[in-house]
Amino acid sequence: MSWRFLAVAIEAALRAGRIQRERYGSGVAVELKGEIDLVTEVDRACELAILETIRSRYPDHDIVTEETDLARTGSRHVWYVDPLDGTTNFAHGYPMFCASIALAVDGEIVAGVVHDPLRDELFSAEKGGGAHLNGRRLEVSKAARLIESLLITGFPYDLHDRLEERLRPFNRMAGRARAIRRDGAAALDLCYVAAGRADGFWEAILKPWDMHAGRIVLAEAGGRATRLDGGPLGLGPEGVVATNGKIHDELVAVLAEAGVPAASAAPSGA
Ligand code: IPD
Ligand code: CA
Ligand code: CA
Repeated sequence: MSWRFLAVAIEAALRAGRIQRERYGSGVAVELKGEIDLVTEVDRACELAILETIRSRYPDHDIVTEETDLARTGSRHVWYVDPLDGTTNFAHGYPMFCASIALAVDGEIVAGVVHDPLRDELFSAEKGGGAHLNGRRLEVSKAARLIESLLITGFPYDLHDRLEERLRPFNRMAGRARAIRRDGAAALDLCYVAAGRADGFWEAILKPWDMHAGRIVLAEAGGRATRLDGGPLGLGPEGVVATNGKIHDELVAVLAEAGVPAASAAPSGA
């Protein structure tokens, strides 16, 4: 049944991807949402295309989307949309961004799609059906210790206000892992762990639209995602640890050594 949902999510993500590819590097108009938090006309154009696609098939479903605060009707079906994840990268011409679309039914994520238009990579998953990259089945890596792991992290837009708190776990982890990357698009970060390109990822706070599609791709590839303290994730904004499963406890333990999550209280609001 949910393959129809997945097909609609794919159609919407591909539409957004076409807009992103066409406009990439063409000098788009940028506005500031915060001191370092950007939004471009392409975020909005992609959002419109995705909303149109979903609404034309499922007018009764609720949609939680980054750039527009839409009223919720209490539908059992809730879509989570990040029309352009990696906006800072996009605005600077750094080639790492995507669209991210997930669907939850009765509070459970059942389908997710993340599309990187420059590499032409479509990550997709539906509950119980495995995770795929352009149709090829994905599986997480086999790394069993942090010292043999490539990690990815990201920093929320409150970085300037919480610099020491955000860098403390990074510094600690840098002394324990093989290497750490900061690529700037959380949905792709999660999919890279799912694809075995990285072994783990963490970020102090993610929004639902940043993580839900990547979460199901990772889970269906055999990985694990939890809160920073190792507890279960819900559907709201939350700090996230996402790994191949094998290094999960060690990563959570290093965060705890660095005083996380006690010092990482989430800002309120989705
Ligand atoms: C951001 C990116 C970034 C992460 C931030 C997100 P946006 O999303 O995913 O990698 O570190 O926390 O907010 O603003 O580019 O959609
Ligand atoms: Ca995002
Ligand atoms: Ca975004």
